[in-house]
Amino acid sequence: MKRIAVIPGDGIGIEVIREAVKVLEAVGSVSGNPLKIDSYDYGAERYLRTGETLPPGEMDRLKEYDAILLGALGDPRVPDMKHAADILLGLRFGLDLYVNYRPVRLLDERLCPLKGRKPADVDFVVFRENTEGLYVGVGGIFKKGTSEEIAIQEDINTRKGVERIIRHAFQYAAENNLTRVVMSDKSNVLTYGHDLWQRVFRSLAPEYPRIEARHLYVDALAMQMVKDPSQFQVIVTCNMFGDIVTDLGAQLQGGLGMAASGNIHPGRVSLFEPVHGSAPKYAGLNIANPFGAILTAGLLLDYLGAKQEARRVEGAVVACVRGDRTPKELGGRLGTRETGDAVVQEILSASPIPS
Ligand code: IPM
Ligand code: MN
Repeated sequence: MKRIAVIPGDGIGIEVIREAVKVLEAVGSVSGNPLKIDSYDYGAERYLRTGETLPPGEMDRLKEYDAILLGALGDPRVPDMKHAADILLGLRFGLDLYVNYRPVRLLDERLCPLKGRKPADVDFVVFRENTEGLYVGVGGIFKKGTSEEIAIQEDINTRKGVERIIRHAFQYAAENNLTRVVMSDKSNVLTYGHDLWQRVFRSLAPEYPRIEARHLYVDALAMQMVKDPSQFQVIVTCNMFGDIVTDLGAQLQGGLGMAASGNIHPGRVSLFEPVHGSAPKYAGLNIANPFGAILTAGLLLDYLGAKQEARRVEGAVVACVRGDRTPKELGGRLGTRETGDAVVQEILSASPIPS
């Protein structure tokens, strides 16, 4: 039996993960492959109570699981987001989850802010490097608070790190019969760090002769994503640019509430989280959109090899979205819980999944 560690976290994370867990239980019951789910209370509340974010022993405990499902971290009572950095970035780095996998799929035409775009026009994945770049925290502040102050934040790009994420993108395209990979950087300005991205990309491309390997500077990528998202199948980019363009991508799918993601080290315990944050303003009101978290649970199932179960989850969300069983954010009338119930009902009403 697969074992899942669940970390609801803060704010609406707690509410949307409750629905995602309901969905995992429902799909487990129809497939005859139930999951063993344990919940952990890492987050702002525990940090404020105990001063602990993610003690080192806890990381080892999480490594025993097949996958981790995380809600969101962030609380106004922790303005520096210390616990979020320790827990989320700590797990990304500590578990070496170098692939940040963020599919951008439009499930219903009505959700797209672009005129006339149909689901077939918005269907690509972004692979964001997840363990390096500007996120590593190398740097420092000198003469802090004075008029002479100097702040340095290094952009770390290693050959190993760049190569493994670009290879992953090509490999994903090859395995899914996709024919286009775009690598995006800012090598016209970042002439050292992103020159490495250029060279690695050009050296790997010939190994995938059936795949068109195209380069776009990240500013042009942002523009093209809005102008014509249908040109994209697979995008690979660095940590910071991936962070930014996946928020843009989320909007193309109907908003942050629809976006799912996985932080993956192929073959190892990986972490799945919706792209949205903890939205403290909306917490506790039963209005948050749980689809992003539910679709994230679908990615988790897919990662664990439960392909049919994953498709069932996604299909149920599509049915709810197209049938207007949606939360207010999407123009519907359901609360967070009722939206989760609708997805569960959709899953249970279809015939059992042969195991
Ligand atoms: C994301 C978030 C995180 C990031 C924050 C919360 C540290 O924006 O997962 O996209 O920048 O990676
Ligand atoms: Mn982000």
